[in-house]
Amino acid sequence: MAFQIVGTGRAVPEYILTNEEVSKLVDTTDEWIKTRTGINSRFVSTHETITDLAAAAGKKALEKAGLDATDLDLIICSTVMAEHASPSLSCLVQKELGAKCPAFDINAACSGFVYGLDIADAYISMGKANTVLMVGAEVMTRHVDWTDRASCVLFGDGAGAVVLQKGDGLKAIHLTAKGDDKLLSIGNTFCKSPFGRQPVLDPHFKMNGGEVFKFAVGAGLKDVKTVMSKAGITSDDIKMVIPHQANLRIFQVIKDKLGLSEDQVASGIDHYGNTSSASIPLMLDELIEQGRLVPGDIIVMTAFGGGLTSGACVIKL
Ligand code: UT7
Repeated sequence: MAFQIVGTGRAVPEYILTNEEVSKLVDTTDEWIKTRTGINSRFVSTHETITDLAAAAGKKALEKAGLDATDLDLIICSTVMAEHASPSLSCLVQKELGAKCPAFDINAACSGFVYGLDIADAYISMGKANTVLMVGAEVMTRHVDWTDRASCVLFGDGAGAVVLQKGDGLKAIHLTAKGDDKLLSIGNTFCKSPFGRQPVLDPHFKMNGGEVFKFAVGAGLKDVKTVMSKAGITSDDIKMVIPHQANLRIFQVIKDKLGLSEDQVASGIDHYGNTSSASIPLMLDELIEQGRLVPGDIIVMTAFGGGLTSGACVIKL
């Protein structure tokens, strides 16, 4: 385990879309969305690109770390879909920030941020990088079907970032994957070709909500217990668990099963909605800014989603 978090940052679009407004687009109500998910509103990108959001979050994280973009040895961005297949989002962030280091994207859907932390840890452990920028950035509102009430009410846009440097903040990390394209899938943009199978031009999000809910709760609990055991900590040692912000009811189960108090489970789903791999770093930066997390606190991050993937880690701030 090789890194510590030395800076965090976040960026969200200007436009706030309330449940009331969503209920003018599809057959839903503020009441249903609130009680089934915990969401009141979400940020939706109108003019902001995913690169704008990712670069802004990265810039703030560097400022808080007191570092310059040229200090970076590596940039990793996690996203389910950037503006282009190539150049990668991370290359465009590198350009925007004026960094000179290698940069690449990863896609582990909602677990992408925790997956990225594991990669950053490997680079720093091996001495291949001293300073890494890890960004989770998503514009999920461009990938949902705005006529499908089962999915469009859930998502929001944003980016969160951390700067990592050599240190002993990471205490344990654990990742899982269980390949499945039936329960959750996002988009498919194959073009017409005279060869092979027929094109499938379907950019939208599909999810079996009930089954993914069960997966999320099961994987989240198992992963958290695994990393707590690896790190040798109990629930009492944890200042806060930051779960992927998918559904308030998932947090409730995690809280009850782990015997945590309300204050020990971070929730910002009311104002962010589900921002996929951006959700954990968005929360982390917000909690640090509010003074609810301070250096020395032990936090647990737990993520789950498309792939199906999951991952959790224990970090001392
Ligand atoms: O980020 C990746 C990981 N994602 C997750 O972990 C998400 C996990 N799943 C969930 O959070 C929940 O399954 C959802 C929030 C997506 C859905 O909640 P649910 O309690 O599982 O609802 P449901 O899909 O079982 O639907 C219940 C009812 C249905 O009506 P009937 O069949 O009972 O008459 C739906 O048609 O609610 C209806 N419904 C809605 N009603 C009003 C579904 N969506 C809506 C809606 N507004 N937006």
